[in-house]
Amino acid sequence: MKRLAEARAALASARGVVILTGAGVSAESGVPTFRDSSEGLWSRYRPEELATPQAFRRDPRLVWEWYDHRRRAISRCEPNPGHRAIARFLVERPDAVLVTQNVDGLHHRALEMETAMLTGERDGSPEGTPGMDHAAARILTLHGDIMRVRCQGCSYTQIDRSPVDTSSADSLPRCPECDDLLRPAVVWFGEMLPEQALTRAFESAQDAEICVVAGTSAVVHPAASVPTATLSGGGDLIEVNPVETPLTPRARWRFPERSGELLPRLFEV
Ligand code: APR
Repeated sequence: MKRLAEARAALASARGVVILTGAGVSAESGVPTFRDSSEGLWSRYRPEELATPQAFRRDPRLVWEWYDHRRRAISRCEPNPGHRAIARFLVERPDAVLVTQNVDGLHHRALEMETAMLTGERDGSPEGTPGMDHAAARILTLHGDIMRVRCQGCSYTQIDRSPVDTSSADSLPRCPECDDLLRPAVVWFGEMLPEQALTRAFESAQDAEICVVAGTSAVVHPAASVPTATLSGGGDLIEVNPVETPLTPRARWRFPERSGELLPRLFEV
């Protein structure tokens, strides 16, 4: 396909690439969306009633129970070829930055899988794989990570994928440093996005010659403005989404395909 070859050539010669992802890149992994996961037992609650700091203050056990339910559902999902292709690209290209709105942690898991594979391929050389250590630091999770916990009282934070004991208020996870309650490290309704990640996302987007936008409806701001920053800086947009979005008219290359199928072909390095 000529357009794909063109987009690949543009990526190969670009100085600076930013990738923006949304729920669509995890669709092929079967990750339940925010609202899908409120079925059954949870159908009487709206996410807006549970994903707030007020709800956590009022009833931390209930909020943890809902997050534990979502975390278990996500744990059963595997990164798909789209996540894997992005992870490999991040390792190979130190000038690439991934900005994601997803909280499912699948980009990090894909990177761990690629890291394990590449280390094996290179026979576990003591130097490791160039670019690998830095790749994780170039994943900016704008809405947080559901597999991470953070202390509500101090700055302690840690990836922790283990199930949470929600049987009573006393069994909820506590901070090993200050003993305050730990909470999911996600951005709740009414909370600010992480400032550092946001600043880095916009700086990277402005400097990037290409922005790849995959699996997002591009309507929730400020994330949806990341591609606009690349365009203002004179860069080009590649969009991967079966459905048109507000960004579609501004994309130089558009692939109306599923990200798990298209991204491995686009990011082949
Ligand atoms: N490949 C590529 N794109 C896909 C696929 C797929 N296999 N399946 C669906 N899509 C597209 C849809 O066409 C849609 O445009 O992914 C997009 C998903 O859009 P949203 O559900 O609106 O998700 P997102 O853009 O990530 O939403 C942003 O809103 O709900 C809040 O905080 C939540 O982070 C989320 C934010």
